[in-house]
Amino acid sequence: MNPISSPTQTRKADHIRICLEEDVQCHANTNGLEHYRFTHCCLPECDRNEIDLTTTFLGKQLLAPILISSMTGGTEPAGIINQRLAEVAQHYKIAMGVGSQRVAIEKPEVADTFAVRSHAPDILLFANLGAVQLNYNYGLDRCLRIVDLLEADALILHLNPLQECIQTKGDTNFRGLLEKINILCEKLPVPVIAKEVGNGISATMALKLLKAGVKAIDVAGAGGTSWAKVESERAETPLQRRLGMTFTDWGLPTAECITSIRSVAKEVPLIASGGLRHGLDIAKTLALGANIGGMALPFLAAATESEDALYSLVEVLMAEITTVLFCTGNASVEQLKSSSALQRVVSAIA
Ligand SMILES: Cc1cc2nc3c(=O)[nH]c(=O)nc-3n(C[C@H](O)[C@H](O)[C@H](O)COP(=O)(O)O)c2cc1C
Repeated sequence: MNPISSPTQTRKADHIRICLEEDVQCHANTNGLEHYRFTHCCLPECDRNEIDLTTTFLGKQLLAPILISSMTGGTEPAGIINQRLAEVAQHYKIAMGVGSQRVAIEKPEVADTFAVRSHAPDILLFANLGAVQLNYNYGLDRCLRIVDLLEADALILHLNPLQECIQTKGDTNFRGLLEKINILCEKLPVPVIAKEVGNGISATMALKLLKAGVKAIDVAGAGGTSWAKVESERAETPLQRRLGMTFTDWGLPTAECITSIRSVAKEVPLIASGGLRHGLDIAKTLALGANIGGMALPFLAAATESEDALYSLVEVLMAEITTVLFCTGNASVEQLKSSSALQRVVSAIA
């Protein structure tokens, strides 16, 4: 494969390096899950070994309600990360997204760094593109190519206006995008999912996106990886750096996005992500109304460390979710979701 040679490839490589080496998390703004506590059940009346973590999302069964959130592709190391993530996703039958595939259109020779389907024939797999690219020469044909390359089950369109404000030569013309999303949703043969990148989706915007034909939402709320912070770390000017620092904690906390969207859209397939760091976080989002929980940064760190670290991470997440179910007296994810085990508390606790 060619060495890194395009600005998009350089950006992808920078993102991985910065996310692994710098402190890129929100600090003042949390994901909001600390305001909730499960009511402990001292007599669960079920067998922990029989607890059922399976769930169905967009018609496909997952053995646990976990998504490896969209991250990378486009360089050789990113290809290795994607392959490792795909293998672990296949092993545990959890869902996975790849990073923005724009670079695969710009440089077709790196397309195979995304093409993980052969490593994960059965998983729920999401293609990815920035929605704003629909205003920069991306239409149905290119979206179809992106989906076909991955043999994806759905296309994630990520919405990242803040990140584009801080990036060098960011694509900031978001005018008329809803209409273009609408046309794409009508023509694309797979469902379109709308996703933020860590600043959250409000109920109002979710309703607009659903009306435009989007079939699922990933809230990607604030409280975890801050893309303003990431971009400030690779700023080329003092202005960019200042902007990134000022907006590090910008956005709607993940918990707030889930509860507000679920209150107006009872049935929409809903992904919780943004600052989820363990299975207890994932379980809280399920009880709040999400269908599955996604994590990015923890999977990146584990994938970079070793295959064993990745397998251990998923084992731990599953054990943590199972423990929540057991200690709240719920034998399945479905039962947890319809229970009233999660309570809002006034003071912040773990
Ligand atoms: C290295 C890295 C690259 C990312 N690239 C993308 C991307 O290309 N497309 C996208 O939709 N989200 C991307 N994200 C955002 C994540 O999918 C996620 O929404 C965000 O990091 C918040 O989740 P976290 O707090 O668990 O990291 C990326 C995240 C990381 C860590």
